[in-house]
Amino acid sequence: TPRVFSGIQPSGNLHLGNYLGALKRFAAAQNEGIESIYCMVDLHAITVWQDPADLRRATRELCAGFIASGLDPEKSILINQSQVPEHAQLAWIFNCVARMGWMQRMTQWKDKAGKNAQNASLGLFAYPSLMAADILIYHATHVPVGEDQKQHLELTRDIAAKFNHDYGVDFFPLTEPVIEGAATRVMSLRDGSKKMSKSDPSDASRINMTDDADTIAKKIRKAKTDPEPLPDNTDELDERPEARNLVNIYAALADMPVEQVIADHAGQNFATFKPSLADLAVAKLAPIAEEMSRLMGEQDEIDRILTRGAERARAITAPILRQTYDIVGLVPPV
Ligand code: TYM
Repeated sequence: TPRVFSGIQPSGNLHLGNYLGALKRFAAAQNEGIESIYCMVDLHAITVWQDPADLRRATRELCAGFIASGLDPEKSILINQSQVPEHAQLAWIFNCVARMGWMQRMTQWKDKAGKNAQNASLGLFAYPSLMAADILIYHATHVPVGEDQKQHLELTRDIAAKFNHDYGVDFFPLTEPVIEGAATRVMSLRDGSKKMSKSDPSDASRINMTDDADTIAKKIRKAKTDPEPLPDNTDELDERPEARNLVNIYAALADMPVEQVIADHAGQNFATFKPSLADLAVAKLAPIAEEMSRLMGEQDEIDRILTRGAERARAITAPILRQTYDIVGLVPPV
């Protein structure tokens, strides 16, 4: 039976890349009646230092973002990673299965640790092992994510396969990444060669989910572009990363194929296209921002949702951890 899992870090600002690459697509599984678990990965966030008050606020705001994007806490299971201890417990087992060399090859590790790897936290190095545990502690089969998580999901399969092989079992499934839509890799509004990210020091490089209408419109108006009008076929976007990015964003927000956006706007200058994109973005994003801010006024309700989510999650994770410990040969309490 299919089961969906995905996670987002509660660090920095939730942005349009997170929304189009992941969040916006989460409600689909729930609405098809597929069991799904969505997680605020606070233990991943602290692989780099977080101000404790900011972390608490960001975790609750992310939960508000999940709900505002259409997740129903009755249908889907919404959890905060640290409240479901089996994630971290299974991660330890996986730390003993995964190899140092596998971790060293991760491009996200190389990007984040950079030349100063000796000074990075051990947690940042082991990050993908915890991520594999997030997914496999549910025996999840499908993981909707943006393009940048693909390598981590391949590693998740490697860990599952090596565990199964080392212990001679067929216990952990090989999970499928689900990387779909027009905006699996949303780029920075200031530089078409960099992905939109929470950690970019320039706020103008991204649209935050909490930005107001004026800010959204202004950021789109100022987005970097080239001087050419939009072409009449998608091939001609290949050499124009900034133009391609805005067209992809339009397509994803409008739930339209990229070809349709091009057909509708061929020959337009950005002076015309950008205001249409801004109107569309405001129409789609402003209600989400409003709902998030309303929910943030009901912090107790958010905390109750996460507590209840953790209870429901543990009904799945506790037996799977118990079986894993048994397979490994850990003696249980009597
Ligand atoms: P995170 O918090 O960096 O991003 C959350 C989700 O947003 C997607 N995303 C993007 N998609 C398109 N364009 C972008 N510019 C962009 N930036 C981010 C990410 O691909 C992701 O789907 N390691 C994960 C969190 C995680 C997780 C998991 C995900 C922990 N455990 C288990 C899935 C399953 C991360 O840091 O995502």
